[in-house]
Amino acid sequence: MTKKQNNSIPVSKGQKLEVEISDLAYGGDSIAKYKDFTIFIPYGVPQSRLIIRITEVKNNFARGDILKIINQSPFYKSPECKFFGLCGGCDWMNVIYNEQCKFKEKILKHMLENIADIKNFIPDKIIKNEPPLFYRNRVQYKLIKDKKGINLGFFKARSHDVVKIDKCFILKEELNIIANKIHDALNIFKDEISIYDENNQKGYLRYICLRTNKENDVLVTFVITKKEIKNWLIKVTDILSKENFIKGIVINFNFEKGNKIFGEKEKVLYGKSLVMEKIRDVQFKLDSSSFFQVNNFMLEKMVEFIEKNTSYNARILDLYGGIGALTLPLHKKFEKIIVVEVEKNTTDKLNETIKLNNLINVRVINAKAEDIIEKIIIEQKIDEIILDPPRKGLHPRIISVLNKTKPEKIIYISCNPASFSRDIFQLKHNYLIKKITPLDQFSQTYHLEVMSVLERKKI
Ligand SMILES: C[S@@+](CC[C@H](N)C(=O)[O-])C[C@H]1O[C@@H](n2cnc3c(N)ncnc32)[C@H](O)[C@@H]1O
Repeated sequence: MTKKQNNSIPVSKGQKLEVEISDLAYGGDSIAKYKDFTIFIPYGVPQSRLIIRITEVKNNFARGDILKIINQSPFYKSPECKFFGLCGGCDWMNVIYNEQCKFKEKILKHMLENIADIKNFIPDKIIKNEPPLFYRNRVQYKLIKDKKGINLGFFKARSHDVVKIDKCFILKEELNIIANKIHDALNIFKDEISIYDENNQKGYLRYICLRTNKENDVLVTFVITKKEIKNWLIKVTDILSKENFIKGIVINFNFEKGNKIFGEKEKVLYGKSLVMEKIRDVQFKLDSSSFFQVNNFMLEKMVEFIEKNTSYNARILDLYGGIGALTLPLHKKFEKIIVVEVEKNTTDKLNETIKLNNLINVRVINAKAEDIIEKIIIEQKIDEIILDPPRKGLHPRIISVLNKTKPEKIIYISCNPASFSRDIFQLKHNYLIKKITPLDQFSQTYHLEVMSVLERKKI
């Protein structure tokens, strides 16, 4: 860094400043400007005046922590959760819900203008989450043990330390109830239980994962690091099997280092190895590791969006299809659905779903989308494509094939408005943006889901 650049930075580490929060950023922090210099501040609420301390200074931005609130914002609400600010799960639980949604709309508009270079397009109003609390159908708990006993928890914000949680306000209620029952049962045997430590790869119990469905059936998974099933685990299972919501208790064996949660092998200790979820007339089997949208209300909205914006009897390609949750529920509408998914165990599940539901017009391809897209579009005479990639967005080859083969219509669904905007920028030469609808799939956090319809430009 040159001396000149250094002099132009108006803040220094450790400095105390009075600032007004002007905005919320994608990533979760709030933003204040000081002499036109951007400062990111966790948990600030727009329109509040604060005393902050600068914690980090970079060339074009700084970070700060709140020391004191001078004037509270009209957008402030008291966070429901006592762990807010400690646990890394929620970013905006101290912002009233309506305003969280408005800031997400603003972030999307900003990204469309600045990354996609789309200036005069007005996206739809965000679809709000109903309810904005207690919506997640799945959770993966880390564990900690101290002198008093064993606790379930989540990572602290920006850290791998675990904070104990006795209630999470974005989890469905039955998951909180079961988590507390598991906590109590584990603590009966606390002296026998060792918790896995990712630093030295020692210890037995690694994660506890719960998933539930619309019927409130709960599947409990203990992820352990050894083949041996300890006696305490059998006794804990016996206690938990008497609980109302629990329909299955499973052990997942994960012997690998690293932060992958699930191993390949499982053993059922009680009840079933999965829960069933019905969307429209299709039954899905969900085991502990299946990818499934975490918010059922929003999944229905996505299916509705695809239903409204696709053509009857179309030949549909569902790229990045997972277990087919977005298109299989619409099987009656389409002539053919081809689902491409890279994970073998996911396509195995998909094939089971097809058999279970007797779906005759669905074909599954286990492959990388980028390796196979061109062949499928051409050979299968695809009319319309559903894209729902992971956070990093579309592989460059997907973009070049779409620009070359130009299928009639693309429905692009994304959980990352930044990579979505980058990809749209590269498609908009050939495609007209017909519709963009944001969804508040993950309320209380900064995350934002986007659905869009792109139509091939007529020459
Ligand atoms: C955001 S999820 C969407 C799943 C599905 N559309 C749904 O809503 O349930 C993305 C999916 O893409 C899969 N995936 C990731 N990279 C892929 C690739 N290169 N080719 C095909 N599938 C991929 C992941 O395994 C995951 O199932």
